[in-house]
Amino acid sequence: MPQEKPPAVHKRVMYPGSFDPFTNGHLDLVERAAALFDELIVAVAVNMEKTPLFTIEERTELIRQCVGHLPNVSVIMFQGLLVEAMTVFDAQAILRGLRAFSDFEYELQMALMNRSLKEQCETVFMMPNAKNSFVSSRMVKEVAMLRGDFAQYVPEPIFHALKKKIDGGNLK
Ligand code: PNS
Repeated sequence: MPQEKPPAVHKRVMYPGSFDPFTNGHLDLVERAAALFDELIVAVAVNMEKTPLFTIEERTELIRQCVGHLPNVSVIMFQGLLVEAMTVFDAQAILRGLRAFSDFEYELQMALMNRSLKEQCETVFMMPNAKNSFVSSRMVKEVAMLRGDFAQYVPEPIFHALKKKIDGGNLK
């Protein structure tokens, strides 16, 4: 008996973060997930706990430049609860990267909190390429501030923007 195929569901995943700045680790994760899901939305957060180096508009525009080669990836900014942004953009899942075991506790807590706020909210974890597994936005900023070579850790648009911040004396 011929089996009826279930209707295809458009899988839209949301990748939230501060991205201050967006690193090669973030880009690697976006590229991997873009190949797996129909659509990926990078959601840049107004993080109330952190004072970012780049404004939310700068971060959003820079990420757009970094993901321009991926037709199923878009970049938005959001304020407030992530689960609300998911509802607005009709995303079925959250994507987060896991670099090391030390990331796990915070990520587990966040995933469970989000699911408690919105029952159907699943979080999918992906690992970046091992060569990016030690790269974090915080360390990239530190290396940049101390005039170390940080070109290998960030996409080109971020390199130029961060260099401009340093040369302009804007790096705190
Ligand atoms: O890159 P980060 O700083 O680790 O990203 C954290 C982020 C922005 C994903 C998280 O702080 C977040 O989701 N903020 C939105 C507010 C929210 O929904 N809080 C409740 C769930 S923890």
